[in-house]
Amino acid sequence: MEFQLQVPTKVIVGKDCVGRNGALFSSFGKRAAIIKSGSAGKNGALSDVVKALEGQGISYHVCGNVPPNPSPEDVAALLGYAPGFDFIIAVGGGSAMDAAKGVAVLAVNDLPPMGLFDKSYAVKPLPVVAVPTTCGTGSEVTAISVLEVGDTKKSFLSPDLFPAAALLDAKYLETLPAQVAVDTALDALSHCVEGYLIQDSWATELFAERAFANFAAYKDALYKRAFSGDELELMLFTATLGGIVISMAGTSAVHTIGYPLTVRKGIPHGRACAFTLGEYVAFSYDTKKEKIDRMCTLLKVNGVEGFQEMIRGLLPGKLEISREELEQYTDISAQAAIGKKNTKPITKGDILNIYLASLLG
Ligand SMILES: [Fe+2]
Repeated sequence: MEFQLQVPTKVIVGKDCVGRNGALFSSFGKRAAIIKSGSAGKNGALSDVVKALEGQGISYHVCGNVPPNPSPEDVAALLGYAPGFDFIIAVGGGSAMDAAKGVAVLAVNDLPPMGLFDKSYAVKPLPVVAVPTTCGTGSEVTAISVLEVGDTKKSFLSPDLFPAAALLDAKYLETLPAQVAVDTALDALSHCVEGYLIQDSWATELFAERAFANFAAYKDALYKRAFSGDELELMLFTATLGGIVISMAGTSAVHTIGYPLTVRKGIPHGRACAFTLGEYVAFSYDTKKEKIDRMCTLLKVNGVEGFQEMIRGLLPGKLEISREELEQYTDISAQAAIGKKNTKPITKGDILNIYLASLLG
């Protein structure tokens, strides 16, 4: 067996961990740019970060809110005129963290927005400190950023983009709308399922199998859409586990075919992945039987059908969509999805079938 495990991000978990780790911010310099989501001002995360910076005498510039699913141009606009930062702090969900990685590159490299997708950068990106406020993306421990480009999403990746530190405090999730908590938890689950099934390694098994057991522990709370503090903490940490899994394994066709649902239909990312995840697991069963059976046992569901039923119970209802739209989405996403690592070779016909069975079945 051969695999690589690289988790260079210092992950700190615990209540009030931002306030209790002010000195950590100091270790990255004296001037910070804060890249935040709109909710960062309401859930207490932004004020905790600002207090921690002021306590250390670090000057800071709070950039405008990151829009959902930002484009490279949105990222460039966030940076504005203010140069000379030592490090970037991301406060928010995946959009804020992925935008912060783009800002970390553009702040020190004279590049047009699409230059983010260059394979390497002349100057090493600034360090990023991540304070996640949702429980899905895992971007706080990955070296990848996913941005919206045209009809789909595109990613850039550099080993220098692993956040230097991630501070996980579940209190910021207490004000998260319940369906957002569910949608992002489904994103984390999707990362673990996809990574687990497309890479056979002890390390992906270690993190994904722990994540499946965690998911089983809070799935009733997800159904009820009501969470205790302990459950939120477990959900937040499980998202980080999912980030470690995709950092090693990448994502499969599920993520790729979810992108048009987000870009064209406005379906939140985690929910978009969840819509087709069950069918992808069914599609994969003949080649990954043993792993899928173990996953279902850990998730405490009855086989593939039980897995699909669990996901259906967490989605807020059926999606209004036509066969024609799904044919278009297949055209948009097939090439990239086929090029991804998958559980077995996947064809354009398979992709259409997965869309149809998931959304019109
Ligand atoms: Fe995702």
